[in-house]
Amino acid sequence: MRIVRTTDYKDMSRKAANIISAQVILNPNSVLGLATGSSPIGTYLQLAEWNRKGDCDFAHVSTFNLDEYRGLKADDPQSYHYFMQKNFFGLVNIDIANTHVPDGSNLDAEAACAEYDRIVAEAGYPDLQLLGIGHNGHIGFNEPDEAFSKGTHCVDLTQSTIQANSRLFDSIDDVPRQAYTMGVQTIMNARRILVIASGADKADAVYKMCFGPVTPQVPASILQLHTNCTVVADEDALSLCPAE
Ligand code: GLP
Repeated sequence: MRIVRTTDYKDMSRKAANIISAQVILNPNSVLGLATGSSPIGTYLQLAEWNRKGDCDFAHVSTFNLDEYRGLKADDPQSYHYFMQKNFFGLVNIDIANTHVPDGSNLDAEAACAEYDRIVAEAGYPDLQLLGIGHNGHIGFNEPDEAFSKGTHCVDLTQSTIQANSRLFDSIDDVPRQAYTMGVQTIMNARRILVIASGADKADAVYKMCFGPVTPQVPASILQLHTNCTVVADEDALSLCPAE
């Protein structure tokens, strides 16, 4: 695991965008794995700015998002489909037909997840997977568990995740209780992984991800076993990690 220390959120976003931009420049047909949440918004904005300037072309890129709330339609403002359209897809020259997010509107979990696994595999898995990290060490919506998950599956969100994500909803009762998420094995199939983290509230999860035991109780800890994983995090998020 390579750790890149940044001063703050802005610096983290710029460095992460640089890594994604380099990937897309070197391979214009890249398959990118994408994430939602507050962490990647700055990265997406930076990429959009470079796209406008003609420095980063998404015309031939395809994308697969990690997760989606079960029961939300793509046009629901709380859905991850909507988030991606607003914060990234709508800001760059990507072909929307090449963007993929699990289908939360399909309540048949087995069918929705199997279809997503099929298309991710068909695309050959992401060349680069962008990840945020939850307070309990979750990646995508892979919550702490007795075992690492494999393919796309339906999860019951933990109370801590429902609480953390409620800031984006009118009330905590509006937060869906279930989501479809790529499994840990699918995430590990990406050729490169880029984790971003900012803020003191992520320090414990970042420490456990990078230096704790590899355990499904901290899903992100498995990234220690990935052969090409880079963590770009700010001082606050790295405050519990030893300074190299
Ligand atoms: C959600 C998403 C994750 C994300 C995490 C952290 O639960 N499913 O993919 O990494 O939240 O979000 P944030 O970046 O807002 O802290």
